Amino acid sequence: MQPIRSVIDVGSETFLSNDKAYRDLVSTLNERMQWAIDGGPGRERSIERHLGRGKVMVRKRIDMVIDVDSPFVEFSTLSGWGQYDNTVPGAGIVTGIGLVHGVPYVFIANDATVKGGSLVPMAIKKHVRAQDIAAENGLGVIYLVDSGGAFLPLQDEIFPDKDHFGGSFYRQARLSAQGLPQLSVVLGGCTAGGAYVPALSDEVIMVEGIGRIFLGGPPIVKAALGEIISPDELGGAEVHTTTSGVSDYRVGSEEEAYGLLRDICLATNQRKITDRQPWADWDEPEPPLYKPEELYGIVSADDRVPFDAVEIVARLVDGSRFRSFKPEWGSSIVCGFARIWGHLTGIIANNGIIFSDSALKATHFIELCEQRRIPLIFLQNTSGYMVGSDSEAAGIAKHGAKMVAAVANATVPKYTVLIGGSYGAGNYGMCGRGFNPRFLYAWPNSRIATMAAATAETVLTDIRLGGLKGDDTTEEEIAAIRAEIRHQYETQSDPYHATSRLWDDGLIDPIQTRDVLGLSLALAARQDEPAAGPGLVYRM
Ligand code: COA
Repeated sequence: MQPIRSVIDVGSETFLSNDKAYRDLVSTLNERMQWAIDGGPGRERSIERHLGRGKVMVRKRIDMVIDVDSPFVEFSTLSGWGQYDNTVPGAGIVTGIGLVHGVPYVFIANDATVKGGSLVPMAIKKHVRAQDIAAENGLGVIYLVDSGGAFLPLQDEIFPDKDHFGGSFYRQARLSAQGLPQLSVVLGGCTAGGAYVPALSDEVIMVEGIGRIFLGGPPIVKAALGEIISPDELGGAEVHTTTSGVSDYRVGSEEEAYGLLRDICLATNQRKITDRQPWADWDEPEPPLYKPEELYGIVSADDRVPFDAVEIVARLVDGSRFRSFKPEWGSSIVCGFARIWGHLTGIIANNGIIFSDSALKATHFIELCEQRRIPLIFLQNTSGYMVGSDSEAAGIAKHGAKMVAAVANATVPKYTVLIGGSYGAGNYGMCGRGFNPRFLYAWPNSRIATMAAATAETVLTDIRLGGLKGDDTTEEEIAAIRAEIRHQYETQSDPYHATSRLWDDGLIDPIQTRDVLGLSLALAARQDEPAAGPGLVYRM
């Protein structure tokens, strides 16, 4: 494979002004991430109280479990951003992947400094999403439990429905049955529903003095039975390890707990991150020829100005080597083969609107990768499929549908990164959330909506005015309608709006993309070959 020859002039005015604008986006992202880690109303007091009880902060806990040289890829750090009056940073829960003795595990850890670690709707969604990641990537789960259970004021949004609290226990039982270890350390109260997280685990450690498990806490016991009892006598580490058997081990400190947990992980018989299976094509990795930092200068500061997907690929893949498939046909989609951290992948990237020929080219390429068992990476930057009489006459509806069907039916691991616009059915054909990519990340310049704000403003204003036929709507009223629609679309297509609702697995700095994708591909390579799907769908 030949290296891409970049034509970017890193000294040009455009490059430098894009670079400056992008660095501002990254610094906003970092500030907001930091806010999720230690900000929020009244958080200082909660953190002080937490530390005053001798407890360790949630991310430090994870650090104490994972290998010294392990990365920790955290998911959806900004979930809950702007929701719940911005009072629940990170949705009060930390999830991600880290290595223990070289074996990747999913971590689900409550942050007791946010609403007592109780679970708001976005926290449940994050918990369940982390379990789904575990299921699909064949990973055990480590639960660091310190939670007030369901966030009671919003109980109707977290308790009864599919994928609510019950769905998390359903998944825990199923994961365990699949041989994926479910391990818990109890570091706080596990009340009512919360008690099932440790109780459903394969092995449980309780920390004396802070860990407690009970279906009903002391106030409920008093109200129901008139029994007056302390929390430790009712459900502390000693009761559950020496009397009830709910817990398997008790330890005197968090430090001891994490040492013991690492010891438990030595006897779980799981594949290491380096245990690549024969189906996965891997070669010695080489860094890209061009610096990933140059991505900042390539992405246009003005989201209406396109940028060349090939230049992005050149800064993500090994040796910047890329073999473009059908390079002279369907040019608004770039398809081709490359390696990322040594793993052979098929890359599909947009260069603008998707036309019939580009949709057919992508469909053909998806099927090639499916046939050859090569994982697929989608880099989304499109305003969607082409509209208009020429396109309709050329069959864009059917050609787009073929691409959508090929994505849906591809069984090889799929990964998506939103590097720009993700609009309309382009989101679907390019493996949006509804198409179950194993991971979906977004850059802080990305936008996601049915259509761009400028288009929506015109379309929806026309629709609204159509409904007011004969009405003498004034120019001012029309301007107000336009402004309202534009505001709605701009707000809702903002990447922070999206990540807050877990439409992605997190916003990432573009320079992290290569590493995050490399780890994702390594997770798949240690699994058995994906089972073949329902068959090829390419037909005219
Ligand atoms: N729903 C809503 N809010 C909750 C909550 C829950 N299940 N659990 C805790 N909180 C809130 C508290 O109201 C408090 O909010 P504030 O900071 O705005 O005052 C904050 O979380 C911290 O709780 P607090 O009780 O002060 O902390 P603690 O460390 O002393 O105790 C718990 C933590 C979890 C042991 C205790 O809050 C508790 O028992 N909660 C209720 C558990 C329960 O019955 N859950 C039912 C699940 S189905």
